[in-house]
Amino acid sequence: MTFRIAQISDTHLSDTKPFFVDNFVRVGEALRESKPDLVLNSGDITLDGASRESDLAAARVLHDSLGLPVRFLPGNHDLGDSQDAPGHHESPINAERQARNLAHFGPDWWSFDVPGWRVLGLNAQLLGSDLASAALQEAAIAEVVSDLGPSRLALFLHKPLFDSSADESEITGRFVNPAPRRRLLAKFGNAMPVLIVCGHVHQYRATESAGVRHVWGTSTAFVIPDRIQPCYGIKEVGYVEHTLEPDGSHDSRLVRVPGVATLSIADFPEAYGPI
Ligand SMILES: [Fe+2]
Ligand SMILES: [Fe+2]
Repeated sequence: MTFRIAQISDTHLSDTKPFFVDNFVRVGEALRESKPDLVLNSGDITLDGASRESDLAAARVLHDSLGLPVRFLPGNHDLGDSQDAPGHHESPINAERQARNLAHFGPDWWSFDVPGWRVLGLNAQLLGSDLASAALQEAAIAEVVSDLGPSRLALFLHKPLFDSSADESEITGRFVNPAPRRRLLAKFGNAMPVLIVCGHVHQYRATESAGVRHVWGTSTAFVIPDRIQPCYGIKEVGYVEHTLEPDGSHDSRLVRVPGVATLSIADFPEAYGPI
């Protein structure tokens, strides 16, 4: 029995600045047609839930209106950025924001099993953090790995682990930084995920590194112009369908939804300021 996950990401929803709600609603119509086993939002659910609780509430209502099973993972715009992200205009994650996110979206790390697979979702904003819950999340990873058995592991989190190699040394806000990346990968030991899926970059990309498939899910909302963000993959909005088969095989594909416009954040200076 195939398990189908529709990954939506970087929905950037808001009640007071609803620039990207139309795209979400149209993607939602396509999801209701497709009837995946799970809709998974891989973060930046809100435009600015880190500062405005009403964005969190509005985004939750929109997801509930899908009438489909949904799981959430937080992103930097929901929680604040990782504590080790340099020179970012967002203030970092703190316990109060995390509690607010938990109240609206439920657990920010979780795992579940389907035939042939264990699916693990992590709060990427806790990687490199000294919050008490960062240690709790690490303990949860150890438990997930310890009794994996013959199942294959699929990992979902907001930020990509790296561009092309786990050995990269740059400290950025775009990827999980080197020290927490090493720490995370060491936790997996011999039970390395065969599929690692993220959002955050607003581009679709599927690559292979050291035997692991890395898939970047694009945004349902907008893309970022080339003059401020390199083109790593495909800058188009949509969602990504992942299929997990009981025999351990898997596939991921970008789904373009007719009528959903690839908006550019450059055309919405009211969202985050002019760029
Ligand atoms: Fe985003
Ligand atoms: Fe992000």
